[in-house]
Amino acid sequence: MSTKGTKVIRTKTGHLLEITDENVQSVNALKSKLKRDFGNDQDPLEDADQEHVSKKLRSQKPAQEPAGNLPINSDDFRQYHQAKSRVRDFYKEQHEKQTMAFNLQARVNFKTKTRAKMTIWGALCKLSMLIDDSDPDTELSQIDHALQTAEAIRADGMPRWMQLVGLIHDLGKILYFFDSEGQWDVVGDTFPIGCQFADEIIFQEFFEGNPDNSHPIYSTKLGIYEKGCGLGSVMISWGHDEYMYYIAKSQSTLNEKALAMIRYHSFYPWHREGAYRYLMNDKDLEMLQEVQAFNKYDLYSKSLTRHSVKELEPYYLELIDEFFPVKYIEF
Ligand SMILES: [Fe+2]
Ligand SMILES: [Fe+2]
Repeated sequence: MSTKGTKVIRTKTGHLLEITDENVQSVNALKSKLKRDFGNDQDPLEDADQEHVSKKLRSQKPAQEPAGNLPINSDDFRQYHQAKSRVRDFYKEQHEKQTMAFNLQARVNFKTKTRAKMTIWGALCKLSMLIDDSDPDTELSQIDHALQTAEAIRADGMPRWMQLVGLIHDLGKILYFFDSEGQWDVVGDTFPIGCQFADEIIFQEFFEGNPDNSHPIYSTKLGIYEKGCGLGSVMISWGHDEYMYYIAKSQSTLNEKALAMIRYHSFYPWHREGAYRYLMNDKDLEMLQEVQAFNKYDLYSKSLTRHSVKELEPYYLELIDEFFPVKYIEF
């Protein structure tokens, strides 16, 4: 295991995982904002007249909603523009390879072995080493993002369990050190497998290359599910959310709201775009609000002050101990 970990650390590929995830998040947020602010259903990423969109963005007043002030300016847009082909390539691969067959196999793999045994804090530190600090493009490591999210939640006086969610919600990305096949089975938006790929999923057109898209059952609206069955019965595409959810569920005392935040935080087609309502039950309606409440901290705490890992470590070690009764977690 250590050999594999060492191999991944400080590689460009590993660094790309971080960049891709950041870009994926910002592209999704931008797309949603455009849709919300201009009532424009056209995919802005498909808009050939980028200058036209840029003008709209420049003349746009900041949104009024709390924590929803997406930091869009021409610089942000330029970065998005540069990232565009990488994000498109990422989603093409993700949408083509996240199949029912892969999902079943990933779940079997997950359940049949332990990849590593380490503390939550140790895992966070290990994950942070994924960043190549000689690269000028990204200064934030995963532990920075984890602490920013957790600290933003803490500063708002939210409960301790939610602070912990902020700290560990992306810890599943450690999957990248283990048996992931690439980035496509670790990061990016998630969506249900086994039923129709909703139009609200970003780059929906890339599902054309997914064999499930022409499957007689998986391609139907309900697929293998029943109306109102509840998201708990739905197989979500495999990645860091689903992986970390199972680890937290089996080895922590975190409550169901916390687990939903971890499990669905990348399920943007659902919590942001309103898709897949027909699969939800009453419990999911409750959880939707929780996931949305968490999402603003995940997205909008980025690029705020960088916290001192050393200073905050004692606080978060205690917080981890409060909800993870066993020190060494089976990853
Ligand atoms: Fe995430
Ligand atoms: Fe995150």
